[in-house]
Amino acid sequence: MKAWRVHEFGEPQDTFVLEDVPPPTAADLAGLSMDLGGWVPLRADRGPHQDWVIMDMRMAALALPDVTMAQGRYPVPVGRPYISGQEGVGVVTDAAPAWQHMLGKRIVAVTIQPWGSLAPVAVGVGMIFEVPDAMSDEQAAGFLIPAHTGYHAAIRRGQVSAGERVLVLGAAGGLGAALVQLSIAHGAQVVALVGDERKAAFCESMGAAAVLHTNPDWQQAVRDLSGGGFNVILDPVQGQLGASARSLLLPNGRHVLCGHAGGLIPHDPDFYLYNYTLVGVDLGGYPPDVMREYHNEAHEALGRLMAEGKYQPKVEQVIDFEDVPQAMADLTNRRSIGRIAVRLPN
Ligand SMILES: NC(=O)c1ccc[n+]([C@@H]2O[C@H](COP(=O)([O-])OP(=O)(O)OC[C@H]3O[C@@H](n4cnc5c(N)ncnc54)[C@H](OP(=O)(O)O)[C@@H]3O)[C@@H](O)[C@H]2O)c1
Repeated sequence: MKAWRVHEFGEPQDTFVLEDVPPPTAADLAGLSMDLGGWVPLRADRGPHQDWVIMDMRMAALALPDVTMAQGRYPVPVGRPYISGQEGVGVVTDAAPAWQHMLGKRIVAVTIQPWGSLAPVAVGVGMIFEVPDAMSDEQAAGFLIPAHTGYHAAIRRGQVSAGERVLVLGAAGGLGAALVQLSIAHGAQVVALVGDERKAAFCESMGAAAVLHTNPDWQQAVRDLSGGGFNVILDPVQGQLGASARSLLLPNGRHVLCGHAGGLIPHDPDFYLYNYTLVGVDLGGYPPDVMREYHNEAHEALGRLMAEGKYQPKVEQVIDFEDVPQAMADLTNRRSIGRIAVRLPN
């Protein structure tokens, strides 16, 4: 099969190569363990990873981790070569014993390197859900990671609640759009901080007020809109922008750190003086039974919100498989809005 693979470190436009590789099989997975960076040789402390399905892919989604992995800026090392892609929708052709009931079903799943979703056949792990008939392949391809991470960040860890004032950074991105919608769905007033007018209009269409951080007075503009400050900052960006936003918190406010699109810098050691809470968010790293409980709880809640029209996967662009490098350049240069879905050649 032809897959988008990465061997080197660098920009995706330079490092993504379309290569012929054998499709993954159950025999390839037998005796492998799972680590934060992906599938690894069997480790005595983990045992074989038994939580997988092999899927004929229909569509995949692109996301910032595809960029940061290629650049070598992803928080955990990822072995090379690997097939890029973190999630997608497809039909199950083989499965570990616990997932046999999914055979033949159209599912969404997270994919972990080296068997990412930018290939006609991929390996889904951990978060695996059947797709309802009403959900298109486009929507399904870009649903899972933004929605579940957004829920974990805004609702479970961030505790956003009715009447609170919430600032969302990177609000027009894949995860950002989920954070905006989930906060509004829970009764919060949302201000979106974004980099251009197109992104501002997109956030306004979801019901947020929007401010451009390219405006030298953005902090004042945001403070004015909030009526004095925020209860919560939802921050998939961090870096200098995240650090500058923190002073907009009200006392007892929560700064929810759920990504690093703008890079990672040390936290101000004086932050303890201001009665803020820093909240860490990573949708991983819990024991398997807790993860499953969290996935199921979020999936049910998200299903309810979608049925009520309060949440929608925001897939704003659909591209062909051969156009992945150009789309990766758009993602790298912050030109994308919401998620980009990729049609797979099956
Ligand atoms: N914690 C978790 O479990 C988890 C799960 C999934 C994703 N994430 C993380 O969440 C972050 C966002 O991912 P995403 O897929 O939603 O990304 P995305 O769609 O590319 O959105 C990221 C947004 O961040 C802003 N940004 C600021 N500085 C940037 C820079 N140097 N490069 C690119 N964007 C920059 C951009 O908004 P403006 O141009 O409007 O400023 C962009 O729209 C990533 O760091 C990802 O690893 C975390």
